[in-house]
Amino acid sequence: MIRQPLLRGGVFLAALIPPLVWFYQALSNALGPDPGKVLLDRLGQGALILLLLTLCLSPLQWATRWSGWAHIRRQLGLWTFAYACLHLVAYLLFVLGLDFTQLAVELRKRPYIIVGALAWSGLLALALTSNRASMRRLGARWKKLHRLVYAVLGLALLHMLWIVRSDIGLWLVYFSCGALLLALRLPPASRLLKKLRGTRPAPAQVSR
Ligand code: HEM
Repeated sequence: MIRQPLLRGGVFLAALIPPLVWFYQALSNALGPDPGKVLLDRLGQGALILLLLTLCLSPLQWATRWSGWAHIRRQLGLWTFAYACLHLVAYLLFVLGLDFTQLAVELRKRPYIIVGALAWSGLLALALTSNRASMRRLGARWKKLHRLVYAVLGLALLHMLWIVRSDIGLWLVYFSCGALLLALRLPPASRLLKKLRGTRPAPAQVSR
């Protein structure tokens, strides 16, 4: 039996430590000649990986019948948003140099930023409505709204593809994970997961 504070503490540390290490490396000149760009890329990739991990939790819960996965879903979702915010701040500081008069030129030069901004806006809407009060207020519409996460994933993948263009090896890995997670939501796959679930006893639940 895993205690919930232990699970939450583990997720907190696992998500907090990478950016702290990257900032420390940037300050100690260990990220090469353009530390701002390295930070920007790592935070963008971190946000995408956390988004994919968040989407893994429901299929894992269906397959294992362990409710612990659901307890960290909101936490991981909020970490995804935090990484995306740091990624945006890194862009504003290190690429734009806080010179907002250049924004129009930048958007024409790098249209993938508009796609990234749309993905970020989707994450903002999900983060703002991830609390219990919003769940109660929105009722059945909450579930519909939170399907927005798939649009965010699509936009984030398009944003990355636009940037990496020819070197798509890593992008293909992320894309395959995203496609698999989407496929698991389709009725035949969810029936199979339920079947698997039905043949094994329910494990002990997470204690609060
Ligand atoms: C307003 C929001 C955003 C802005 C302005 C933005 C901007 C950028 C920029 C300038 C780059 C680097 C381009 C280059 O290497 O030349 C980048 C890369 C990237 N961004 Fe974003 N982005 C935003 C939102 C997001 C979001 C929400 C995600 C994911 C959830 C994301 C994921 C990525 C990824 C995976 C990369 C590629 C990193 C790599 O090449 O290693 N971005 N973004």
